[in-house]
Amino acid sequence: MNTTTDPKPGPRRMLFATMGVLLAVLLLGAGGFMWLSAGSGNGIAIGGPFTLEDGGGKPVTDRDFRGKYMLVYFGYTFCPDVCPTTLSAVADAMDKLGPDYAARVRPLFITVDPRRDTPAVVRKYTAAFGPEITGLTGTPEAIAAVAKEYRVYYAEHRTGPGPGDYSMDHSSVLYLMDPKGAFLAPIRADQTGDEIAANLKKLMG
Ligand code: NI
Repeated sequence: MNTTTDPKPGPRRMLFATMGVLLAVLLLGAGGFMWLSAGSGNGIAIGGPFTLEDGGGKPVTDRDFRGKYMLVYFGYTFCPDVCPTTLSAVADAMDKLGPDYAARVRPLFITVDPRRDTPAVVRKYTAAFGPEITGLTGTPEAIAAVAKEYRVYYAEHRTGPGPGDYSMDHSSVLYLMDPKGAFLAPIRADQTGDEIAANLKKLMG
């Protein structure tokens, strides 16, 4: 007689596993944001030097944005939901800020999918949201380096056997960097343009 039979039926175990993964993702998101919030102003190093490429393939470094507040977001152009929603909200926030504040902010979109997101792809994508957003890509090594500096999590998630059959899991936070390039504060990316604009005004003073 087989006494090792698992009493739980298969579908129920799968449900538990799915719930576990969802909970982990939820905690990772909330915990990551809270950790970043605690780190702002406390000397925890977030951000740093980078050399990437803009939509024209021209080299761009963090020093090119000195004197402006960088609003940095990491994502990828094939993202089905979170990235387009966030970039729409950022473009809306730039409108809502008004010209005086908006002139002091440079929103940057840095891809975590450099294999598909060539300069031309990134340029076309960011242009669809607004001319104020600068899309940046780079070598896989350069992207890995800048993501590490910003404590960004990203990972390829296979969706099929083909070379392009994958999506990217990635953390979703807006990083506000001050005019000297130092990390100022995280801004939640799941907010409306109005809310992001209000956060920016408060943080910029
Ligand atoms: Ni995304």
